[in-house]
Amino acid sequence: MFSATLQLHPAFTVGTVERRLFGGFVEHLGRHIYGGIYEPGHPTAGPDGFRRDVVGLVRELGIAHVRYPGGNFVSGHDWEDGVGPVDDRPRRLDLAWHSIEPNEVGLHEFSDWLDLVGADLMLGTNLGTRGTREALHLLEYANVPDGTARADARRKNGREEPFDVRMWCLGNELDGDWQIGAKTAEEYGRLATVTARAMRAIDADLELAACGSSWRGMPTFGVWERTVLEHAYDQVDYISCHAYYHEEDGDAASFLASGVDMDDFIESVVHTIEHVRAVKNSKRRIDLSFDEWNIWYQDANEIDTTSWPVAPRLLENQYSVTDAVALGGLLISLLKHADRVKAANLAQLVNVIAPIMTEPGGPAWRQTTFFPFAATSRLARGTALRGVLDAPALGTAKFGDVPAVDAVATLDGDRAAVFVLNRSLAETATFAIEGLDPTGPVRAHGIWDEDRHAKNTLAEPERVRLRENTAITRAGSAVTIELPPISWTCITFGGER
Ligand code: AHR
Repeated sequence: MFSATLQLHPAFTVGTVERRLFGGFVEHLGRHIYGGIYEPGHPTAGPDGFRRDVVGLVRELGIAHVRYPGGNFVSGHDWEDGVGPVDDRPRRLDLAWHSIEPNEVGLHEFSDWLDLVGADLMLGTNLGTRGTREALHLLEYANVPDGTARADARRKNGREEPFDVRMWCLGNELDGDWQIGAKTAEEYGRLATVTARAMRAIDADLELAACGSSWRGMPTFGVWERTVLEHAYDQVDYISCHAYYHEEDGDAASFLASGVDMDDFIESVVHTIEHVRAVKNSKRRIDLSFDEWNIWYQDANEIDTTSWPVAPRLLENQYSVTDAVALGGLLISLLKHADRVKAANLAQLVNVIAPIMTEPGGPAWRQTTFFPFAATSRLARGTALRGVLDAPALGTAKFGDVPAVDAVATLDGDRAAVFVLNRSLAETATFAIEGLDPTGPVRAHGIWDEDRHAKNTLAEPERVRLRENTAITRAGSAVTIELPPISWTCITFGGER
């Protein structure tokens, strides 16, 4: 047993919690679209082929916007293949995932699905095999109301009103040699700049994200961001960050400290942005779009390069309680940086490294990681507060000493929420929250289990759920709660939404 304290004050404001922090990501990859969100003939499918059981779970997850259509997929994708009469659409080789792309779902269908789940579209352009010209064509097709060939083609294809896509990704991970059309930072920085400038000639108010490094372990990390921004600083609004974590060789202590790495990653990119801003003597502000983040075990269903299947089982990770707790810690890291992380996308959404799983013709269920995401999306509102945390140090092999507890709070009028992670593998934390002056009910829910490896599976889809933590007491304005080892908890003050 150990003690930790979080001191809060409403003036300790970090920044507004944007709804866009709770974005998802849907890529044409494995069974994400075909056999995931889209399965004509499934008992719950509507006439449009979209599974309504999945729609219900995505709504419950609380996804505000969705990045689409990739990922690695977008770097070899021709958007025109996915519009027009479905029967006329081509089947194509998808080189990124060694699959056949049938193009039954494209921009129109996906936008209809977004209406069902109540989320906005964040659209990716192909800057791998294609360039500025095709990005402009897509923008014209998507956003120009009428009176041009491409806008009128969209109307003829059944969509009278423009899609009016606000946020765009200028390519994907173009620093990576696995990426079709990979580029040097100079090449990409120049391409992103001219593409962004031309896109703004059509619509000046677009929000544009340039690719940052595909992960912070890239040898070019830092130099890539600096070089891209030296070119594109005046034309883009965001630089992207991508990060995936996993438990290696049973080292749960390091894994549960992944948020420390994410904190450092975010702060390094912010410093790089500010360096370029200083050199340019610019007043312009660039923020982070953390448009891919999750837990990912890369040995699950890797690509079979001997065949070209449609919708194979790829990247179908099954997540444990420990994974869910670590993911809750990553959400805490994002909230602690709400001043600079203005959009983020859990990668991905259904079947592919996903919080939601489906079985063909069968049920859909929530993975363990579903719960901290859904609760944070529902309860983290208003402004993020960074408290003063007093917690003992915990030794980790990867990150050295880290605080045994991590926490962040959000404040929204007379409601507040505190999100907290107990990283200890064996010890309960007595955690005191001071300074919130709570009125109304105080409740706590979280993820922990006697078996940290427990999972939700097709055979046992409800083995793990959000649990109520009743070991909570109030004394004046202080609240104290017992946090089990390896746990993620959300404590709400003043009632829940
Ligand atoms: O999310 C899976 C893949 O991870 C994406 O396609 C790619 O952008 C990243 O490397």
